[in-house]
Amino acid sequence: MDTTQRTDPSDLFSAKGLVIVITGAGSGIGLSFTKTLHSTSPHKIYALARRLPLLQSIAASLDPSGTVITPLECDITSPTSIAAAVSHIEKETGYIDVLINNAGVTGPDHRGIYEAGSIEQVRDVLLGEWEKWEATYATNTTAVVGVSAAFLPLLDRGNERRGWVNGKLGPGEGPRERKTVQKKEKGDEEVDMSDERTSQIITVASIAAFNRHVTAGFAYSASKAGAVSVGKTLATALAGWGVRSNVIAPGIYPSDMTTSAPKQFPVDKVPAGRQGSLGEIGGAVLYLVGKSGAYVNGDVLITDGGRLSVHPATY
Ligand SMILES: NC(=O)c1ccc[n+]([C@@H]2O[C@H](COP(=O)([O-])OP(=O)(O)OC[C@H]3O[C@@H](n4cnc5c(N)ncnc54)[C@H](OP(=O)(O)O)[C@@H]3O)[C@@H](O)[C@H]2O)c1
Repeated sequence: MDTTQRTDPSDLFSAKGLVIVITGAGSGIGLSFTKTLHSTSPHKIYALARRLPLLQSIAASLDPSGTVITPLECDITSPTSIAAAVSHIEKETGYIDVLINNAGVTGPDHRGIYEAGSIEQVRDVLLGEWEKWEATYATNTTAVVGVSAAFLPLLDRGNERRGWVNGKLGPGEGPRERKTVQKKEKGDEEVDMSDERTSQIITVASIAAFNRHVTAGFAYSASKAGAVSVGKTLATALAGWGVRSNVIAPGIYPSDMTTSAPKQFPVDKVPAGRQGSLGEIGGAVLYLVGKSGAYVNGDVLITDGGRLSVHPATY
């Protein structure tokens, strides 16, 4: 072991030179990702959401030159809208290194079961807003598969740009071969062989996937458990193709989704006693996106101030 080798945190925790797609990039956690990753000099960030004017104002304030952050209107529940975003990025850049499936919705509120005074009231709370289940799954679970699938060819090309010889490696085959020189727009370029990253999908689920106390609704928890499952299953299914998949499961962070959530908590609810900060969630994604996260695949990163430790939960 080479104990003299130095580590440089600014090189380890950085998105320098990468092309990153973030869904739900205009508010809360997605905006924190955009700000944090942008501060480390990526080549491009494609910021996707339905509210284009919001994305445009964020891009204008963070990136006045307009060269790094590209706002794109995209509804992740619409295959046509996803295909349009992929096609735009394919024409403009031709590849991506990281896809962050962050967009999400809360869905029907079932917290009323704890106030119910009769079993009929429990029934009525659970049957209320039945029609909203479909939209919750469409955004939080189905879209994780749909958006990830649509971007796979661009993630594959991202690998190729970093020198990896693409294609499927079957059982017993590998490690994946790597070229030391790569053809790029401005001619041949040496591949940075110290950068061991392969392309990555990051999915933002929630600790609701594991928490058995209903903090939003059954549909939210179930759809986020689905998102965790999809994220893990993608890691297994794509292992032979050289694309990684990881999941972040946040506790309570400030966002449009949590405006009515308490800012402080007793330690039996959240041992940290507070919501997470946007810097803390930004730091989590930077760890996964940076060279620091190159060996992480199929993982679920929980960042919740200890909330799951004091709730009935399954992990
Ligand atoms: N904040 C928390 O405490 C917390 C905890 C655990 C997990 N999460 C997860 O973190 C992620 C981000 O949520 P947030 O807390 O930052 O809430 P947020 O501020 O409400 O952000 C959600 C984002 O998703 C986008 N979005 C929703 N539906 C979409 C669709 N069909 N197509 C494209 N974009 C869509 C929204 O943008 P448009 O409306 O412009 O489309 C919005 O920017 C979600 O997956 C959420 O479940 C949050």
